[in-house]
Amino acid sequence: MGFQPQQNVDLAELTTFKIGGQAAFYTVVTSADELPEIFAWLKQNSLPHLVLSGGSNTIFGDGIFRGLVIKISIMGFAVLSESEKSAVITVGSGEDWDAIVAKTIDLKLGGIEALSGIPGMCGAAPVQNIGAYGQEIKDTTLSVEVFDTDNSVVTSLTNAECEFEFRNSTFKATQKDRYIITAITLKLSKLPPSIPQYKDAINYFKEKNISTPTLPQIRKAILEIRRNKFMDPAVMPNAGSFFKNPIVAELVAKKIIAQNPDVKVYPEDTKIIPLEGGNYKIAAGWLIQNLGLKGLELEKVRVDPNHALVLENKGGATQKDLKQLVSKIQDLVTKKYGITLEAEPVIVEF
Ligand code: EPU
Repeated sequence: MGFQPQQNVDLAELTTFKIGGQAAFYTVVTSADELPEIFAWLKQNSLPHLVLSGGSNTIFGDGIFRGLVIKISIMGFAVLSESEKSAVITVGSGEDWDAIVAKTIDLKLGGIEALSGIPGMCGAAPVQNIGAYGQEIKDTTLSVEVFDTDNSVVTSLTNAECEFEFRNSTFKATQKDRYIITAITLKLSKLPPSIPQYKDAINYFKEKNISTPTLPQIRKAILEIRRNKFMDPAVMPNAGSFFKNPIVAELVAKKIIAQNPDVKVYPEDTKIIPLEGGNYKIAAGWLIQNLGLKGLELEKVRVDPNHALVLENKGGATQKDLKQLVSKIQDLVTKKYGITLEAEPVIVEF
């Protein structure tokens, strides 16, 4: 029989932004063992492929993708080794990220608690090096298990080989489209956690008079902070922060700060200490809000009225609508600050 994909499958419902046309071919993969046959089929038919995880970071085109969309649903969770201070866990790429965060906290393991509430699956986490409230997945990643489409073998990349950067990795950059992530291996800590050094989190624990919170308390705090800030995609489809916070050279940063004294620059509360390499990270949300664009609507998309970094589908939006809004914001930001904002989700054209 060989590989038999589904045909003419609607894509919008498979993403949190609910935008997209159709895939000519579609399949759900539950084990890495299925991949060699699928890639042989793709080669035989000279067709392109797209990998889909939880769909929280993909904006599909409005037409028909004349290739195969591969939805990864590889499950599994295991503790590989343990010492007094740490434990190594491995997780299938199709596991829900937040369910795994909850599970590690139940096991009293720290290192990803500040990443509570991030939508998507585990396999997508290293692709854009997910981060929030001072933690990034690169801090705990030991290795990423992959199917290498170049030679059809399952192999493993070390942390260094993943080339992690702010919202970036080799999976989005130097080796884009080469690997399919099948599992991630993380080293987590058994040491007492500390309060995430972000204003929202610091204030939360100050108000509650808690100085040494437990992992469940930190998770609760982060979930609450996020709930108050980010629109639930189930209520109004979105993809979380739509733009990356731009990282700019010192001269550019100094100019923006001089002209906008209250601009938000990272690391928090310092406008004088640069990041490694002498650059500065500027809060894109602040730049957009300062242009008065919160709540801006165009066709069937809008800027979230409460959080300028989140773009939303008001219902029935197309990729075309979204791209118009994105261009408008990018143009205005470039004109005012001389910075180009980059989209964080992957925008696939077809
Ligand atoms: N701000 C505004 N107006 C807005 C939004 C933000 O002025 O409408 C300013 C505020 O000064 C605020 C600052 O921007 O203090 C930063 O905003 P926020 O704390 O919401 O963080 P962020 O920079 O928007 C980043 C990540 C989030 C992560 C949070 C918390 C990026 C692109 N975004 O957001 O990650 O949850 O920090 O650590 O790095 C994601 O990547 O999808 C994501 C949600």
